[in-house]
Amino acid sequence: MHLNGIRKKRILIIGSNGMLGQRLVEFFLKRPEFELFCASFEDESFIQNVDYTKIDIGIKSEVKSLLNSFFPDFIINSAAFTNVDKNETDKESAWRINVTSVEYLAKYALALDAHLIHFSTDYIFDGAKGPYKEGDTPNPVSYYGRSKLASENAIKTTFDNYTIFRINVLYGPALYGKLDFVRWVVDKLSKNEPIRIVDDQFNNPSFTEDIAEAVFSSIENNISGIFNIGGKELLNRYEFTKRIADYFDLDKTLITPIKSDELEWLAVRPLNSGLLNHKAESELDYKPHSLEETFGIIKQIALK
Ligand SMILES: NC(=O)c1ccc[n+]([C@@H]2O[C@H](COP(=O)([O-])OP(=O)(O)OC[C@H]3O[C@@H](n4cnc5c(N)ncnc54)[C@H](OP(=O)(O)O)[C@@H]3O)[C@@H](O)[C@H]2O)c1
Repeated sequence: MHLNGIRKKRILIIGSNGMLGQRLVEFFLKRPEFELFCASFEDESFIQNVDYTKIDIGIKSEVKSLLNSFFPDFIINSAAFTNVDKNETDKESAWRINVTSVEYLAKYALALDAHLIHFSTDYIFDGAKGPYKEGDTPNPVSYYGRSKLASENAIKTTFDNYTIFRINVLYGPALYGKLDFVRWVVDKLSKNEPIRIVDDQFNNPSFTEDIAEAVFSSIENNISGIFNIGGKELLNRYEFTKRIADYFDLDKTLITPIKSDELEWLAVRPLNSGLLNHKAESELDYKPHSLEETFGIIKQIALK
């Protein structure tokens, strides 16, 4: 398809029904210079009026036939097995979805000369001394972290035509599927339910709209490589929760600070984590919203 005589760039979004995937679909749907095709695990697309197919990216023949039918210029892979604790108990699925599928995507992207955009995580680090730069040495402490690091390596050892965005504590106004952390807090506190939140885990949470802007910038400017895409502020989860309560005018006395080791999580989480954004700021003109701005956007879109 063409726009003003110019062939539209073809973008394939895989994992389009996920928290990040939904916002990427909405972002690119608004831009007529792109031809969009979406794929995810469910029978139907959560977002209406998009070209969509169901796919299991862990099945090589399904990946091959999807790519050969659409011939994308860009493949954006936001599909993953994201439940960190379930990664510990179902390692086979974790590896199949987080690593083997990415090997397939990289292999077919190479064959088609397509650019692969992939998402990774601060969980590739151990959390001993974050926030982290792109070049810091990974040392994952969970199976999820190991699988995501392996996904990065699968891409890097296949070709150079990729952009990997590392993000941490994803949040944003996806209208379908699981609630993000902000809306979970708002939901609990609005019902006057007490919540216990760790105060020893530090991150700079990544906002879906900011990530979409960074992806767009990398496409527009033909930029490859690895980029951290964190939020503007580094803070612990308890402080983050209090900021949410303040913004939405909810009762902060319902929030009790606790330590991570009081929770019976199966997977170890990096504690002093977070992602330094300097590279994205200088090469992608990345300008994350402030926390309060992100809460305002969530309120407008998903908490009307
Ligand atoms: N969430 C975070 O805090 C966070 C932090 C750092 C990095 N990341 C990374 O950011 C990316 C997006 O995360 P997210 O939170 O948006 O994930 P998400 O909401 O869990 O979405 C992932 C999507 O992939 C789909 N999917 C799972 N297995 C699939 C398969 N075999 N074939 C096709 N689709 C499949 C899921 O479907 P079902 O829902 O039906 O399984 C879901 O629609 C991931 O790469 C993740 O590792 C996330």
